Amino acid sequence: CGIVGYIGKRDVAPLLLEGLQRLEYRGYDSAGVVITSPKATGLKMVKAKGRVRDLEAKVPARFKGTTGIAHTRWATHGAPSDENAHPHMSGDGLVAVVHNGIIDNASELRAKLTAEGIEFRSETDTEVLTHLIARSQLTELEDKVREALHLVEGTYGIAVVHADFPDRIVVARNGSPVVLGIGDKEMFVASDIAALITHTRQIVTLDDGEMATLKADDFRTYTTAGTRTANEPTTVDLEAASFDMGDHDTYMHKEISEQADAVDRVLRGRIDDRFSTVHLGGLNLDARDARTVRRVKILGCGTSYHAGLIGAQLIEELARIPADAEPASEFRYRNAVVDPDTLYIAVSQSGETYDVLAAVQELKRKGARVFGVVNVVGSAIARESDAGVYVHAGPEVCVVSTKCFTNTTVAFALLALHLGRIRDLSVADGKRIIEGLRKLPAQITEILAQEAEIKKIAEEYADARSMMFIGRVRGYPVAREASLKLKEVSYIHAEAYPASELKHGPLALIEPALPTVAIVPDDDLLEKNRAAMEEIKARSGRILAVAHQEQEKADHTIVVPKNEDELDPILMGIPLQLLAYHTALTLGRDIDKPRNLAKSVTVE
Ligand code: G6P
Repeated sequence: CGIVGYIGKRDVAPLLLEGLQRLEYRGYDSAGVVITSPKATGLKMVKAKGRVRDLEAKVPARFKGTTGIAHTRWATHGAPSDENAHPHMSGDGLVAVVHNGIIDNASELRAKLTAEGIEFRSETDTEVLTHLIARSQLTELEDKVREALHLVEGTYGIAVVHADFPDRIVVARNGSPVVLGIGDKEMFVASDIAALITHTRQIVTLDDGEMATLKADDFRTYTTAGTRTANEPTTVDLEAASFDMGDHDTYMHKEISEQADAVDRVLRGRIDDRFSTVHLGGLNLDARDARTVRRVKILGCGTSYHAGLIGAQLIEELARIPADAEPASEFRYRNAVVDPDTLYIAVSQSGETYDVLAAVQELKRKGARVFGVVNVVGSAIARESDAGVYVHAGPEVCVVSTKCFTNTTVAFALLALHLGRIRDLSVADGKRIIEGLRKLPAQITEILAQEAEIKKIAEEYADARSMMFIGRVRGYPVAREASLKLKEVSYIHAEAYPASELKHGPLALIEPALPTVAIVPDDDLLEKNRAAMEEIKARSGRILAVAHQEQEKADHTIVVPKNEDELDPILMGIPLQLLAYHTALTLGRDIDKPRNLAKSVTVE
């Protein structure tokens, strides 16, 4: 979900709608806006099921104000509808609230408020907050909000306006991001700097348990207990343009296309040729410490989990430390044994995914050492981790992750090299890996140059109802991520299997109508992979191979440049991002905002 708010002198509705457009990737099943102004009597609100453009169509011409808050939603409690869209207003029309996160004790509070005679208009957990604020007998808005927050349990990023206090917006954060944008006689608030960056680069990020009052020419921050906090604005060094689509028709295409630059960024300044190793400034891990690590456990969700699977292999191969990856969402529910000699690594593009954050918090509570491999600087997971490596992919807007996946795998290669060179990786091998890493940007450019051919292949396979993706050892996580990419963006069912396991079951599915994508690197398993393709061919299955040389058994081969064996997985998935993209394009899908998905899942 996304929040944006403004207080100043400008006409607020267009500003908020533009901000919502920029946040739409975070949720897009309904949207709403509420406005007021110092002279106005009361709040004016419009809400709509659907996209921001549906809301825009409903906003009347005379919807004027200079203060307002808005929201784009991704349903958790209650189906997408006009009523369930935020903001939520109190019965007397005085208070309006937008909220990200989840109120755990909402049903309890709802029952209590209903018993008091309060009527609910939606099925959301947020509406509870609205009524709690409205019914407070305290005089200041800040106190009313504080009183309400003390009654709720759960996570929130909220913004509140009150008709009797048209000179201010009150915001609060607990587990769901809130950033303030400091302007010249105007103030912004949002859940994500994407919505602020075109207006100001002076940012204040709230901490959990912190609140703020925004007035047109002033802001102050304080804790939910009421103590003032010092909060100097910092200047973010992101260009507004990095959030724009540029010449591309979709963010997905833009983000796939900029991967050579992105990988260049994650490598920049980190390679140490003198000792054939890398410097990772945020790691805070001295050599003695690094030698005490006996296992590595990587936790993430979705695409980040898949990047973690590649990361685990890199760490095992280069540092010879046993490593594995697990979905954070599973880990946190299975009362895992937390071992003091294991290094835990949380992986997340957004740094906000709730399942990952909850796993980190549980690990820390049990005394574990947790590192973060995160893209968004200063995000919750980055802050909760003891140390970490930033992925530097730049803003990723398309719901499905591409460039951040690639950069995360490169960040893992750096981490693995670093750990390896402290332990048993030789200088020569360190050098070999460094040379391989340096080749990546140019090799990515080479792969992307094949887009026209990949597009043709995608058009040919787009009528498939289902697709099989196979790979072996290094190729298997590549197959899994490619299969997820295709599913997410084209809605074609896809399944990833270790090539070695085909004969134990899935071979039964093979027929001409089920094409297979095979990951076939030129490594010591090449012959084994060829044998798997042979088995498929013998059952009349169609095959698309991603390989380092033409594959005779395949109907099509996408040839990718060879790197070091260990680094090949970083490259082999890239043509398959394009395959997923062009398949979705052929099928007329909503590429940047696939149905039912959101970029960041900040709830359980
Ligand atoms: C959501 C997105 C996925 C993403 C996953 C993890 O499910 O739709 O694309 O991979 O969250 O997100 P994170 O920000 O933690 O990497």
